[in-house]
Amino acid sequence: MQITGPRAPAGPAAPYAAAPQQPDWANHPDLPLVRGELAAARALVTAEEVAAARRALASAARGSARVLQAGDCAESFADDGAARTAAKAAALASLAGRLHERTGEDVALFGRMAGQYAKPRSRPVETVEGVELPAYRGDLINSATADARSRRHDPHRMLRAHRAASRVLGALRAHHGDGAADTPGGTDGPWVCHEALVLDWEESLLRTDPVTGGSFLSSTHFPWVGARTRQPEGAHVRLLASVVNPVGCKIGPSADPEDVIRLCEVLDPEREPGRLTLIVRMGAAALPELLPEVVRRVRRAGHPVVWLSDPMHGNTVRTLSGRKTRYLDDVIEEARCFMRVVESAGAHPGGLHLEVADREVTECVGGPVADESQLGARYESLCDPRLCPEQARMLIDAVL
Ligand code: PEP
Ligand code: CO
Repeated sequence: MQITGPRAPAGPAAPYAAAPQQPDWANHPDLPLVRGELAAARALVTAEEVAAARRALASAARGSARVLQAGDCAESFADDGAARTAAKAAALASLAGRLHERTGEDVALFGRMAGQYAKPRSRPVETVEGVELPAYRGDLINSATADARSRRHDPHRMLRAHRAASRVLGALRAHHGDGAADTPGGTDGPWVCHEALVLDWEESLLRTDPVTGGSFLSSTHFPWVGARTRQPEGAHVRLLASVVNPVGCKIGPSADPEDVIRLCEVLDPEREPGRLTLIVRMGAAALPELLPEVVRRVRRAGHPVVWLSDPMHGNTVRTLSGRKTRYLDDVIEEARCFMRVVESAGAHPGGLHLEVADREVTECVGGPVADESQLGARYESLCDPRLCPEQARMLIDAVL
């Protein structure tokens, strides 16, 4: 089931195409005010940074670099401090370093950070200890706290998101500027990325590059559209088509080759390396059947896309107690098969898109987490289960 909220009254992409998965602000009287404040607020990222991120992705599209895109499923406002940001950046940099060692190629690093605050949901409600509540939709929209008041969609949260993202980006820039002590050689970045989901937020942060005159999303370097909002004629794809950022698109098992070609035409009409990244998340069982034709068709159509494997989202299962988890064996199988399929079609497997924590959480089964009975020890994710760093290293070593 898709959640469709009312569309906001202003924005550059009118008339509006269908926009699934929007918050229901319930006609909050402050929405126009909040949008106005965001429209006047400082850009979170600069046009120069966006251009540099796009160049790094272009190297991967040309076959001479790899990409690691990784971080939390849902980022919390509470994690916006400098120490948390530095810890996350260090954990990601260490994984990127591993990828560099394994492949010998430069690695462009993108953190799911400084904006990964909004979540699409398959169900609009969830039951917590016998009580049905609106689902948590990410800190941009409501609070994870399980009571009806906290779960209301509150547009003021978009202003908090701007402050939190600014703090995270400030800490990342400071961390990086410190001689990048934790950034091993052979890695480029880090840049930030998130799913461009909430249109009130993204549209309010559209800015114009004063040098080129191009419109860019100043909310992040590298936005992507999710599997639930990637309709080729929908509002999310239309928004990403209108900006100069590098853009990504999740490709799940329901995307047939025709859909993918249409998405490539809309998002990469000029066939430019670095412009479009296809993030494949089909699931270990479906991928061998579905991916070969998709890769062939995209190559035949001449789109020089970056191919990334997200081996997490198609392999989510529920334990008997109702907890979401993923088995490292399934994740490894999907990623391995992805590499084989992309290579045998003559394309370059660009790298990995992962949900990974910076500490030893117990959210996925495999490696240090022997079985489902151990998931309770340290299950901290606000949304989907993440790999712990050791599991992520095992994955990289198994795949590349
Ligand atoms: C995600 O990346 O957290 C996500 C919701 O992915 P998808 O759109 O692939 O389901
Ligand atoms: Co997720």
